[in-house]
Amino acid sequence: MAGQLREKVAVVTGGASGIGRATALRFATEGASIVIGDLDATRGEETTAAIRANGGSAIFVRTDTTSEADCDALADAAMQEFGRLDVCLAAAGISDATYVSGQESPGVEMLTTDESHVQNLASEQWEKVIDVNLKGVFLTDRAVSRQMIAAGNGGAIVNIASIAAKVPLPGAAPYCVSKAGVWMLTKVMAVELTPYDIRVNAIGPGFIETPMTATMAADETGLQMMLQMTPMNRLGQPEEIAATALFLASGEGSYFTGELLHPGGGMFHG
Ligand SMILES: NC(=O)c1ccc[n+]([C@@H]2O[C@H](COP(=O)([O-])OP(=O)(O)OC[C@H]3O[C@@H](n4cnc5c(N)ncnc54)[C@H](O)[C@@H]3O)[C@@H](O)[C@H]2O)c1
Repeated sequence: MAGQLREKVAVVTGGASGIGRATALRFATEGASIVIGDLDATRGEETTAAIRANGGSAIFVRTDTTSEADCDALADAAMQEFGRLDVCLAAAGISDATYVSGQESPGVEMLTTDESHVQNLASEQWEKVIDVNLKGVFLTDRAVSRQMIAAGNGGAIVNIASIAAKVPLPGAAPYCVSKAGVWMLTKVMAVELTPYDIRVNAIGPGFIETPMTATMAADETGLQMMLQMTPMNRLGQPEEIAATALFLASGEGSYFTGELLHPGGGMFHG
């Protein structure tokens, strides 16, 4: 065990799949006890079982991050089970209103026709994405920061945004706006929380090979579109985002706060 997070306790939302899952596994190998909050109990429990099988400590708390009560209960669970809360990775998110993690998602059509352009978008579609991707991160960050402030031990919060916080993707307005919101939320919270020694940073990944991109990657047009936007000419792996999260969450990133890092294979985003 490498031990960069030895004796720390980390809450990971979206920890049942993709980037959240890879980060939960990595944080655990670095010595952290893990509290996974996710909608998906089956894959959430499977992730905690994998951590325990590897000698780590983990619990799963079924959480809908759009629920204030659920987010508060998630942070409480960390305190009750492990007696402290040092790190949070807020990774729960959706690509669009119809996306359910692990199920087939809208493919490249979403980005190549005007079906999902703003003039054709229902208010409910807008609200759903903003609710999960932006309000969910606010509620998560609020719950964990309250516990961190009360404990007085400082902490590190890492929010998962996207290159879409800076790159306008036609057909994905709610997603882009939600991620731009996460970026600004990160910066405001970073300033607010420095007196408590709590650092708040964000990661804006490029295209990462997870269930969220699986439908698009399975379609040759979709895959080529993603690769053409990525100078390294490959999709990123969730473990590469986990490594970035570890840097920001551990002492290695001790002078970073309010920052947005882009593991994006060279994608330019100004
Ligand atoms: N995959 C990519 O290319 C990519 C790129 C940039 C940013 N991201 C962001 O990374 C994060 C993780 O995405 P991923 O690619 O690992 O996708 P994923 O579908 O594999 O994982 C998302 C997880 O979030 C959970 N979730 C969704 N809504 C939830 C809610 N309301 N409450 C609790 N849990 C909920 C899902 O059950 C799932 O376990 C998301 O915020 C996504 O927007 C992904």
